[in-house]
Amino acid sequence: MDEKYSRMRKIIVALVVFMGLMDNIMAENPDYLFMIENACKAPSGHNTQPWLFKIRESEIDIYPDFSKELPVVDPTHRELFVSLGCATENLCIAAQEKGYESDVKVVNDSFIRVLLTKDKKRQSDSLLFSQIAVRQTNKSVYSGKEIPEDSINKLKNISIDPSVSIYFYKRGTVDYERIADWVYAGNSLQMNDEAFKTELTKWMRYNKRHQNKTRDGLSYATFGAPNVPLFLAKFIMSKAINEKTQNKGDRKKIASASHMVLFTTKDNTVEQWVTLGRTLERILLRSTQMGIVNAYLNQPNEESNIAKEMASQLQIANEYPTILIRLGYGRKMPYSLRRDFRSCILPVE
Ligand SMILES: Cc1cc2nc3c(=O)[nH]c(=O)nc-3n(C[C@H](O)[C@H](O)[C@H](O)COP(=O)(O)O)c2cc1C
Repeated sequence: MDEKYSRMRKIIVALVVFMGLMDNIMAENPDYLFMIENACKAPSGHNTQPWLFKIRESEIDIYPDFSKELPVVDPTHRELFVSLGCATENLCIAAQEKGYESDVKVVNDSFIRVLLTKDKKRQSDSLLFSQIAVRQTNKSVYSGKEIPEDSINKLKNISIDPSVSIYFYKRGTVDYERIADWVYAGNSLQMNDEAFKTELTKWMRYNKRHQNKTRDGLSYATFGAPNVPLFLAKFIMSKAINEKTQNKGDRKKIASASHMVLFTTKDNTVEQWVTLGRTLERILLRSTQMGIVNAYLNQPNEESNIAKEMASQLQIANEYPTILIRLGYGRKMPYSLRRDFRSCILPVE
């Protein structure tokens, strides 16, 4: 009897050791690391990079990192999950590049599971993959040049899940001007909210040294600001973070863009936020490939009263406006940094 138990114990221990070894081997799987590295190049609100990854035998789980939440501007974590959706899309495109089929599921409204199956016949989408490292949020004033209709149609042709809708508004149309007014109204609310400004300044990275230290947050360089000593940068920024300066800047930016694009969901659910993020990332990568630049004007979506009014006036009252971007042409801007992707990988159990 004793001998039988001892043999069973040995088998169980061997199994546990084997599974642990397998987990560790998978955790060092260069294909999976490559996918995570590319996922981390996704955009995120205030460049918080609110993602954590767990590598399993044939899947990668993507978890929200709530220590990077933005409770004032994003109290429901909607933008956080949109950011995770963008990261998920990058991960899937990178998986395809390495010959994997991916299947995405949102589990219990809490994390994203990407099942990965090696498929030698799988065609990679290299055109989109090559744009992952090139894409950037371009916060500059654009050239004013209009995007041709056939380029807009190419973006419209990107496949969309039925839970997400995308609306394009061309500069010069009535709706474009109305949306611009909701952006200014959003600025007015946010710039008079001390909690909003405190949260925003917490994520400002004021000069090169500051930015290189954290490798996250809103880099001074992406706003076109000079690299000056911290006290001076803080002084300059404190003068810029107010309703009048924000609206003056946004007027120029909106007047120089070609289109605004509004992304909505049918329901306000985690699953649909993730789906919207995946769609958004595909549109961003495709437009990057076409030489079109983008930046966010998300203020009206972040203020619920404005969002409701906007949806109603745009005759999409039964949808949830979630992301608003502007598109156009502009000179390349400095890139936002990322933390080392390895620091976002959770240890295997
Ligand atoms: C869900 C989401 C919301 C965002 N909201 C804003 C915004 O309101 N204003 C803005 O200037 N940028 C916004 N951004 C852009 C981020 O600031 C940007 O992605 C981040 O700084 C990283 O820079 P990158 O996109 O150039 O890599 C948003 C991005 C995401 C994914």
